[in-house]
Formats: sequence, structure tokens, C-alpha cells
Amino acid sequence: MKAATTLRHSRIAGLGEHRPAGSLTNDDLAARGLDTTDEWIRTRTGIASRHVAAADETVVSMGIDAAAKALAACGLTGDDIDLVVLATCTMRNPIPGGAARVASGIGATGVGAFDVNAACGGFCYALSIASDAVRTGSANRAVVVGSEKLTDWLDWSDRGTCILFGDGAAAAVVEVSDEPGIGPVAWGSDGDAYASVGVPEGDWAIRMDGPAVFRWATTQLAPVARRACELAGVDLADIRAFVPHQANVRIVDGLARALKLPGDVVVARDIATTGNTSAASVPLALSSLVGTGKVEPGDLALLLAFGAGLTYAGQVVRIP
Ligand code: COA
Repeated sequence: MKAATTLRHSRIAGLGEHRPAGSLTNDDLAARGLDTTDEWIRTRTGIASRHVAAADETVVSMGIDAAAKALAACGLTGDDIDLVVLATCTMRNPIPGGAARVASGIGATGVGAFDVNAACGGFCYALSIASDAVRTGSANRAVVVGSEKLTDWLDWSDRGTCILFGDGAAAAVVEVSDEPGIGPVAWGSDGDAYASVGVPEGDWAIRMDGPAVFRWATTQLAPVARRACELAGVDLADIRAFVPHQANVRIVDGLARALKLPGDVVVARDIATTGNTSAASVPLALSSLVGTGKVEPGDLALLLAFGAGLTYAGQVVRIP
């Protein structure tokens, strides 16, 4: 056996996103007979509307579109890719996973392809795996996709849950870099709290103890974000953008406060028109910042994802 390859650096080279054309406003939900109001949802969650995929838009088709756009943003094609990692928890059927079809869909023939299910934590897990594959030489260039069709798993009469979620996908091309562009991941889980959010045994829709998840997210996750910075060897003061999972704008703001982020740090608040898109949420939120002029290529962004499982993961990345 040869000696292990010397570790290389990795970076995000480009991003792509798919936001379904269909959307539902809070008023639409109330007009459907849900006992809620636009005012309640905006005040408690920061959400005004969410995208809803059409019947023929699937986890796989949205993932293909986002991945193809990420490749195009880098001037690449499927031939340039040798690994596809799909983060999702909303495939209609668990077997087979969707990554191989995403790979085929972008013309990446015969490449490594697998799904990661860490629910809303999924993208940061998948990014870390792809980054390590590139760093060790197992892959030269990977596409990491977060794609979710949560509306397949919502009970539209459950007002404590259905108002929160939306559909969408986003993808990142990960490749070898001269400089470190993706920091080591800080990750973890709490399986004892698995029942606080998810599809219970024998049920078909996502159920949630919202206040319990809210408390957990706002009290337990700041140390994970700090650890991600430590692992990357950067100070929180060096961070230009904070891109947490878009579960509730009050959680986003609570985490930003707990981290005592300087006032000029850009905090991603993609949730207003996107809702919680689980594994797609962090890459969608990151993608929404690129090109706005609020961040520049090379700036440091702190990603932090968390969700059902419970799972959590975060890392520092350079903006492509
Ligand atoms: N419209 C109007 N009223 C609603 C409502 C809605 N959509 N949903 C719940 N309510 C009501 C409740 O029935 C309750 O009424 P009561 O006081 O008469 O019993 C009241 O509002 C307060 O409910 P509560 O659940 O305590 O509200 P909250 O402020 O905690 O907000 C969430 C609920 C779900 C928005 C919030 O807990 C949350 O965002 N939790 C985190 C969820 C999350 O991140 N999940 C995914 C993790 S990946």
C-alpha cells in the first residue's frame, strides 16, 4: 500500500440554487382554513412566505437543477466531477437514495454518489465529508447538494408545524485549493432528544415540540459555532457572515446575540421568503448572500446547521 496522500486544501468554488416558482404566503395558509394569521407567523418566526414545489419537482430534480447551476457558475460540467453527496431527509422512498440520479442528471457518469441524512444539519455534514474526500485525494472535485421537498411531509392542519417549512435545493462545488477554504467541522448529536422533531413511528407527517427545539437551539448551539471557529483557527471577529440554519428568525437572532457578533457581521435571514428548507437551508442562505455586495469572495462565513436527530454541525468557509 502506498503512503497516504499528503493532505490538500479544499474550498467552495461556486454555488447554485433552485427555488420552486410556486409559493404560499401566510395569508394563503389562513385562507385555506388554517387557524393562524400573517401577523402571528411573522412575529413568531420571521416567515412571510415559503416556496412549494410542483408535483413534478422532486428532491432529485431540484437537486439536479441546483447542482447544474453550481457547475455552470464555475464554468464546469459533470465530466469535471468525481463525487456527488446529496443531503436530504425528504425522499419519498428511502431506497435507492437520490445522489446517483443527481450525478446522472448533471452528466457525472460513474462517479461516487451517496445520500446523507442528518435532517436540517445535513448540508454541513455533507460539506465536511466532501471536503475531507477532496483533502485526502479520494476525490478531486465534488458537488454537495442540499435538496428537500418538505411539503410532502407536512400535515397542513397542524399549525404549529406546517407554517415553518418550504421546498428548495442548493449546491456547492468543492475542489482542491491552494489555501484552506473549508475549515474542520464541529459536529455532534443528541439522540435522547430524537422525539422533539421528526416523523413519529406510525405517523406520516413531521411533528414537533416547537418550544423544546427552540430552547435547545438558542441555548446549546453557540458553543458549537465557537468550536468551529477554534478548529479553523479564526477569531469570531474575523467572520464576515454568519449563516445559520433558517429555522426561525428568532433563533437566528438569538444565536447572533449569544455569539456577541460585531454589528457589521452580515447575518443571513433568508427565511422570510424561504421558510425552513432543512438541508437546503444553509446553502440557500449562503447563496442568497453571494452577489448582493454584502460579502466578497474570500470573506469568511460561519455556517451552522442543526435539526432532527438531533444533529448539529458547523464550519468556517471562504465565500466563493
Ligand atoms: N398560528 C397561531 N397560533 C399558533 C400557531 C400558529 N401557526 N402555532 C401555534 N400557535 C399557538 C399555540 O397553540 C399556543 O396557543 P395557546 O397559548 O393557546 O396554547 C400559542 O400559539 C403559543 O404556542 P407555542 O408553541 O408556545 O409558540 P412559540 O412562540 O414557541 O412558537 C414555533 C412556535 C414552532 C414557531 C417555535 O417554537 C419554533 O420556531 N420552534 C423551533 C422550531 C424548529 O426550529 N424546528 C425545526 C428544527 S430543524
